[in-house]
Amino acid sequence: MEKIEKTRVSDDALDLVFRKARTYNAWLPKPVPDELLRELYDTLKWGPTSANISPARFLFLRSAAAKERLRPSLAPGNVEKTMAAPVTVIVAYDLKFYDKLPKLFPHFPAMRDMFVNNPQLIEETAKRNSGLQGAYLMVAARALGLDCGPMSGFDNLKLDEEFFATGKCEDCEQEFFPAGHVKSNFLCNLGYGDPAQLRTRGPRLGFSEACSIL
Ligand SMILES: Cc1cc2nc3c(=O)[nH]c(=O)nc-3n(C[C@H](O)[C@H](O)[C@H](O)COP(=O)(O)O)c2cc1C
Repeated sequence: MEKIEKTRVSDDALDLVFRKARTYNAWLPKPVPDELLRELYDTLKWGPTSANISPARFLFLRSAAAKERLRPSLAPGNVEKTMAAPVTVIVAYDLKFYDKLPKLFPHFPAMRDMFVNNPQLIEETAKRNSGLQGAYLMVAARALGLDCGPMSGFDNLKLDEEFFATGKCEDCEQEFFPAGHVKSNFLCNLGYGDPAQLRTRGPRLGFSEACSIL
């Protein structure tokens, strides 16, 4: 196994990824190349999920036509910024994630059977872990110099019907999109944010308000 030096990242890196990273609503006219989206996935995919199930599926919307398909599902306050963003990613989850377990968790094949006939466990496990993977996406995007604008203000059922219903997404080469078992979790605009349009940042809870050490 390749040895990695365990040290902490620089203050500049912490600023870039967390402390000075903002949620953006306005975007500079600078494109996001496909290569960077591939690098983004190839980075975030290493974030941990339970039993390595990796349930998140990511649909990157870049073309005007794809954005127009998304528009009717968006809450009114999210339309303009989403249409203007270079890329909008639908962070979704595959309810049949367990079919990939023989590949993803080969040393314990029985893990698949734990899920197959347990829809409640499937749903909560897929949502929890795709949410985590969506967070890894944002952290990785920021580490790669991109900015993010996450959104949950949209109609999940309408979006799922448009993008993930059986027989939809004819242009998608990925086998998991047309089969009707992928559901949306949240959306995230990606691009290079316009700092001139930022509002004052909201505070965060202090350690004693949010944490306890026993
Ligand atoms: C899961 C999630 C859903 C969000 N939904 C929306 C949304 O629908 N519309 C919106 O304008 N902002 C939305 N936000 C943005 C948050 O309000 C914003 O990230 C938060 O206030 C922190 O802002 P900051 O990163 O600039 O400090 C969402 C953020 C997250 C993480």
